[in-house]
Amino acid sequence: MRKILVATVKPFAPVAIKKISKIFNKAGYELSLLEKYELKEQLLSAIADAEAAIIRSDKFDEEVFEAGKNLKIVVRAGAGYDNVDLEAASKRNIVVMNTPGQNSNAVAELAIGLAIFGLRELFSGKAGGEMRGRTLGLHGFGYVARNVFRIARAMGMKVIVYTRYSKGAAAAIGLKVTNSLEQLYEKSDIVSIHVPARGEHIKSVSYEVLQHLKDNSVIVNTARKEVINEPDLIRIMEERPGIKYMSDLTPDAEAEFVEKFPGRCFFTPKKAGAQTAEANLNAGLAAAEQIVDFFEKGDTTHQVNK
Ligand code: 3PG
Repeated sequence: MRKILVATVKPFAPVAIKKISKIFNKAGYELSLLEKYELKEQLLSAIADAEAAIIRSDKFDEEVFEAGKNLKIVVRAGAGYDNVDLEAASKRNIVVMNTPGQNSNAVAELAIGLAIFGLRELFSGKAGGEMRGRTLGLHGFGYVARNVFRIARAMGMKVIVYTRYSKGAAAAIGLKVTNSLEQLYEKSDIVSIHVPARGEHIKSVSYEVLQHLKDNSVIVNTARKEVINEPDLIRIMEERPGIKYMSDLTPDAEAEFVEKFPGRCFFTPKKAGAQTAEANLNAGLAAAEQIVDFFEKGDTTHQVNK
């Protein structure tokens, strides 16, 4: 019987586990659960006889792949797979997939929530601002950004975007694409970041870009901390006392941000963007179905290490 491991430091909602278990039962596979684990050794021992794994932000490095002697496929239930060492997987012929789009509405709703929290002065009692009539700049235009766009438009916002890879998709829905990242930051009241922690996006939010921000703008980050150049962000926030930073990712320099910018920054205690029952169901079930389709039909759709 194939053993499928669900290894999640941050567990799925019980309703999602119930349905994932049904999918594997029907396929004749055995489900093994490793939730809220604290030690890497627990993962190394649980992966030893698994043929497939469903993970979230769980780190799958060389050592984990080495321990997974029977492993054929790992599905990251979510979008970003920067936690998975693709090279280590590929050299062992292990397929890595993600589940694009499945948790994007949840993350988008949190991005909007963080924007409102920032605009409303962190609910401190100070007079804040409204979303309606303001310009929202989308840095990147993947699934999450498209959901943010849908919600923002309904709130009466003007939305603009900077994207290199999805210009056609943005133009098709009448969204204005700026010529540069600098122009996006210059024209936005709120910037919402939606690029992966890969390639040219790493530290792409740098001083050169940030210096173009308006005085009272809010930066919302539900993507990854690695896309921010933190010393540059701290510098601009020191120079321009109206700028705020609201993030679902804890920055490396968290203590410095908190000390220097009271009332101007907020970090969720644990990444919460995709942590809804709906997102867990969407991404968890998609991951389970992708595993069954891979074993039963050889389907490699959504493979990210081709
Ligand atoms: C993603 O990349 O899908 C999101 O960042 C959600 O990550 P999580 O599954 O660790 O909450």
